[in-house]
Amino acid sequence: MLENDLAGLQAGTLKRIAAAALPADLEAIRVEVLGRKGTLAAVSKDMGKIASEERARIGKLLNEAKNSLEAALAARQDQFAATALAERLESEWVDLTLPAPGIRPGNLHPLTRLQQEIEDLFRSLGFTILDGFEVEDEYHNFDALNIPADHPARDMQDTFWLEGGKLLRTHTSPVQVRGMETLPLPLRMIAPGRVFRNESVDASHEHTFYQLEGMMIDRNVSVGNLIYFMKTLLGEVFGREVTVRLRPGFFPFVEPGFELDIQCLICGGSGCAVCKQSGWVELLPCGLVNPKVLEKSGIDPTEWGGFAFGLGLTRLVMMRYGIADIRLLMSGDLRFLAPAAGVAA
Ligand code: FA5
Repeated sequence: MLENDLAGLQAGTLKRIAAAALPADLEAIRVEVLGRKGTLAAVSKDMGKIASEERARIGKLLNEAKNSLEAALAARQDQFAATALAERLESEWVDLTLPAPGIRPGNLHPLTRLQQEIEDLFRSLGFTILDGFEVEDEYHNFDALNIPADHPARDMQDTFWLEGGKLLRTHTSPVQVRGMETLPLPLRMIAPGRVFRNESVDASHEHTFYQLEGMMIDRNVSVGNLIYFMKTLLGEVFGREVTVRLRPGFFPFVEPGFELDIQCLICGGSGCAVCKQSGWVELLPCGLVNPKVLEKSGIDPTEWGGFAFGLGLTRLVMMRYGIADIRLLMSGDLRFLAPAAGVAA
């Protein structure tokens, strides 16, 4: 009889263990069946009442039942632990190759990109890249460039004056002067940078914009050299023929001086706000360095000659990327820094 009870208890408990939904259910079963005051303990107590020849056999069955139930409990507990671990791993799974949320990929500003391209080009042609001062003195911005205080050319560039006779440079040409003062001859230099003018703003004029100065001083420099470098520059930037015109231009620091205009790429030359309905955009004034300017920086004009140019870098960016209003470039519109089309975000 006891034998049947034991077999029934074992089979029933194994079923309950298999059906347990929670780890807590397993603990309740363990206490109820295997605990100190549990069902099996009660059976053990009754062993005394069994005839001694039967006791060993029933005792063995009792042990087997206890061992099999303990093993079943442990196995089921392991199952619960494995499921819990799998759930945790699933819920905490992270793809480390994904970009972190909140970080937006960016790109170089079109101005920076074009500036770097032109720097690479001129570096490959043997030019040094100089970095001037945005806060300049009157001497380097004007006097050394043959623009004395009473010269009408000073009015061409409305100046932001600072205390102590300093000013915000109105062009990158003062870096020419600093180049002549510091570099050995013959010299080839470019100087990209920000310049400032106290003038009204419209689709093609900013108060703060970028120029890129260039200068070459050597023996026997001619207009032919100048035109070669200007053509190379525009060919590299646009990668195709663009229509330009060269006309006389007046700058006290070059003689002869030229204005190199580009046919407006916003309207194709038919006239718009950027070219002020003229079809042409002033882009690249240039000329042969005035001997007076060489002399002021201690260079003998009978031995040395040179050319210089002052590229309107911001306007060049407008032409290259078809930007119809110069004010957009510095507006802080993040679309200018967005990754290029086709590049995964
Ligand atoms: C100059 O600044 C001379 N220093 C250039 C130069 C250098 C001539 C060396 C000869 C030899 P200009 O004021 O024209 O020149 O300006 C040069 C270019 O800067 C212009 O052709 C134009 O493309 C650009 N620019 C001038 N004013 C503005 C402005 N307000 N906003 C944007 N671009 C401008």
